[in-house]
Amino acid sequence: MRKTWAALLATALSTVPLFLSPTAAPAAPAAPATVGVTGTAMPDARRLAVTPPMGWNGWNAFACEVDQRMVEETVDKIVSSGLRSAGYEYVNLDDCWMAPERDAAGGLVADPVRFPDGIRAVADYVHARGLKLGIYESAGTGTCAGFPGSLGHEQQDADSFASWGVDYLKYDNCRNQGVPARERYRAMSDALAATGRPIVYGICNWGLEDVVHWGPAMAHLWRTTTDILPTWEQVMDNYRNNVQLADQASPSAWNDPDMLEVGNGLTEDEARTHFSLWATMAAPLIAGTDLRTASPETMAVLGNTEVIAVDQDRLGKQGRPVALEGGLDVLAKPLADGSTAVTLVNGTDHPATVSTTAAAVGLPAASRYTVRDLWKHSTGTSTGTLAAELPPHGSAMYRVTPA
Ligand code: GLA
Repeated sequence: MRKTWAALLATALSTVPLFLSPTAAPAAPAAPATVGVTGTAMPDARRLAVTPPMGWNGWNAFACEVDQRMVEETVDKIVSSGLRSAGYEYVNLDDCWMAPERDAAGGLVADPVRFPDGIRAVADYVHARGLKLGIYESAGTGTCAGFPGSLGHEQQDADSFASWGVDYLKYDNCRNQGVPARERYRAMSDALAATGRPIVYGICNWGLEDVVHWGPAMAHLWRTTTDILPTWEQVMDNYRNNVQLADQASPSAWNDPDMLEVGNGLTEDEARTHFSLWATMAAPLIAGTDLRTASPETMAVLGNTEVIAVDQDRLGKQGRPVALEGGLDVLAKPLADGSTAVTLVNGTDHPATVSTTAAAVGLPAASRYTVRDLWKHSTGTSTGTLAAELPPHGSAMYRVTPA
């Protein structure tokens, strides 16, 4: 399903963004969009993820090596570091939280060694600190790591999640027995709705089976790509696939190019570019590093509230490509206040100047524009040209407002 660079050149138009509420409780704007909602999809749940979900997930840094203690330490760091105030809200368990077998009643059970107090206790810990808990399952007979899957157990498992206080489900695609994805993912969507608990629902079928066309009707987000890796090449591959899908995104319905690799070995320029691109694409911002030991540089990238504000802008538009030429990319994301976020990317391996104009990014004509640099945190003006000299894999991100 990977698209080529050339296929990418096809798109370009305008967009818009949104704003983030920095507190734990999600703000519920008056009339969230209900794009594509049909049938039995959960009307109350449609008020969730009005802006792209933000939080943390252990998979990218730890894979199966997670336990209650490290999750709680991560929660503590999210609070003490200010990431909670910056908008990070969901603390998400991934694969391997379970015991290898269901219990006698057929219910899922937490691994007794990794999570000795059960998932309810983790949820209580998370909730007591103003955050929310996410969990993982697969729409198959097993998870990717081989733990019990939810295919055929949708309602029982959704009821377990709700009873434990789970707020978010990432629903994977392993061991799916060839049952059409749309059926399998609808079954869990309906089961979650039937619990009556608001639970953010993320489809993780790697962009397959045309999910961008039916995902918005039943879920708040859907993976659009194969798994991310902590390499520049894979980050850019996920970006180049996802950036083409701007038409599919809207409030409570987001394209998901996978979790962040910031802090996992990318250079600082690459990490900033990764974070800038995800924010410009209104992607979920799910940190995937060990926050307990993260460097100040990593925490500064993840905690850049000016970039986060672009991701979370209430207009809810995914940024679109304005130019994708020889690895020198320009993206534009319209924002609710009439400004536009402009992201310039040097995807090449040598220094380069990337430039565009206010007209090209869709801004109205004006004699002067205010240009806020979202990484340097400085404000300048322009008569219409936007340009930056960028190191290899570097980027610049601006909020441009007609004066
Ligand atoms: C799949 C998903 C990943 C992760 C693993 C867990 O590969 O795409 O994000 O959840 O399974 O096994």
